[in-house]
Amino acid sequence: MPPTILAIESSCDDTSAAIMKDASLLSLGVSSQKIHEQYGGVVPELASRAHQQEIVPIIDYVLKEANLKPFDIDAVAFTQGPGLLGSLLVGTSFAKGFALAQNIPLITVNHMEAHILAHMIEEPRPKFPFICLTVSGGHTQLVLVKEVLEMVVLGETLDDAAGEAFDKTGKMMGLPYPAGPIIDKLAQIGNPNYSFPTPKVGPYEFSFSGLKTSIRNFLINNLRENTDFVELNKEDICRSVQDSIVKILLDKLVFAAEQNNITELAIAGGVSANSALRQGLVDLCIEKGWNSFIPDFKYCTDNAAMIAMAGHYKYTKGMFTDQRVTPNPRLKI
Ligand code: KG4
Ligand code: ZN
Repeated sequence: MPPTILAIESSCDDTSAAIMKDASLLSLGVSSQKIHEQYGGVVPELASRAHQQEIVPIIDYVLKEANLKPFDIDAVAFTQGPGLLGSLLVGTSFAKGFALAQNIPLITVNHMEAHILAHMIEEPRPKFPFICLTVSGGHTQLVLVKEVLEMVVLGETLDDAAGEAFDKTGKMMGLPYPAGPIIDKLAQIGNPNYSFPTPKVGPYEFSFSGLKTSIRNFLINNLRENTDFVELNKEDICRSVQDSIVKILLDKLVFAAEQNNITELAIAGGVSANSALRQGLVDLCIEKGWNSFIPDFKYCTDNAAMIAMAGHYKYTKGMFTDQRVTPNPRLKI
């Protein structure tokens, strides 16, 4: 019998559930926590409380959407890490309780692997081996994907993640959290009038803290001369910052592809929703004769469909866990 899997994602500030039957998605629900906007970033304590409120309604929603009852579910997959401990605990505890009540297997999923496996939800799917640039609010990684569950991290950020670079720039400019999508929108009508230095790190490594400091100094210096500088030039500042971040990301991706002789390139994670990154990847792959893969918007940011996809593969390989499992906030690929 093809498995019907209930998947739960609660690693950060989105409570999400999905149901997948035989690798095809039946339903997906995402409840994004708005409470953090006023604090300019995710407040872990508030995130776990919001997960507690949202988890049962979101499970009810996906069951109803799929026209299923709890006894129709064959296994529960959940995000074990990486993420915020309090947030992960809510999803983990719910998954354990559900699996115990239904007497079905439990499957742990690595959130970063799941972002990459989001590419397997719908056509077109990349062929193995491919390279994935995973860029989110907490991570920036270049991953060589040899097989479905066989991944090697080629390099990652030494400090801030790409999404943090967007969000912290936005905070300095007085934009609400998360600023990434707002910067993306403003940049579309801006000009790249300003330039920022490229970090000097290893070929597979990323660093965004130096960029953050140079953006801060740039804003302070200009605001000293004109207190309306940000307001008057926000589109150009956003375009310039976005161009700098996207160039850093794509240059490393090209390097990794050439070094490893890979012609299938993918992006994943929340920042892969960025329009300049998406267009930049498409353009460079056309130029080089490579293939580019970009997930649908709804599978870029945190969602349980990607957890269900990873859960499906682990189910077919019999990779189950037991009731003693605990979340791992620092889980690695
Ligand atoms: O993967 P995700 O939903 O959550 C984490 O696991 O971190 O990624 C969230 C990040 C945030 O930093 C957000 O600002 C960024 O993705 N993001 C974007 C865009 N949409 C979301 N960054 C730039 N441009 C976007 N369009
Ligand atoms: Zn994520």
